[in-house]
Amino acid sequence: MPTRDGNLQQLLDISQRIVADSGVATAMAAGERVFARLGSHAGSVRHGAAERLAVCAPAVEVVLAGLAARKPPLPELASAFVAIEGRLRWYRRKTATPAGEPFYSSHANALLVGPGGLEERSDVEVGVTVMAPHIVYPDHDHPPEEVYIALSPGEWWNAAMDWTEPGPGGIIYNPPGILHAMRSHAQPFLALWFLPID
Ligand SMILES: [Fe+2]
Repeated sequence: MPTRDGNLQQLLDISQRIVADSGVATAMAAGERVFARLGSHAGSVRHGAAERLAVCAPAVEVVLAGLAARKPPLPELASAFVAIEGRLRWYRRKTATPAGEPFYSSHANALLVGPGGLEERSDVEVGVTVMAPHIVYPDHDHPPEEVYIALSPGEWWNAAMDWTEPGPGGIIYNPPGILHAMRSHAQPFLALWFLPID
């Protein structure tokens, strides 16, 4: 077992269980690829400054408070996330510009693991996305497959799947290269994402 920050390890362990127990074969296989790498070694620890964007308050707190009232392991996952959130460096999507309001000011991403993440490495990305209510995260694609764990209400779409609401603790799988998007409704949106990087 690699040595890493205990709260980050707990978040990864709980996430691994959620994906493994999801019953979604494609997500389970992708999860095995992600968590095998994370289990083989820990990357280096980033010591740079944290950065929070305005959208995070109160969206992140609202979602995490909601998770505290749900069934295990969601309260434990929320506690682990709270413990590391203050060290995250939140950023806007590279292609977002002020001309693209309200998306520009109403979303933020952060890497827990990956380039510039709390844990620096290049073979896996573990990230988080927050959005204010009534925001669409625009269609995008990337070569690696991707597993999301929903932490809040909200919907996912991809080119092979209608808009789908997994609910907190639910899973979405995006095959490699597929066009995909998310959207929030009346409540803020929060989700973790996991990508094996080749
Ligand atoms: Fe994506």
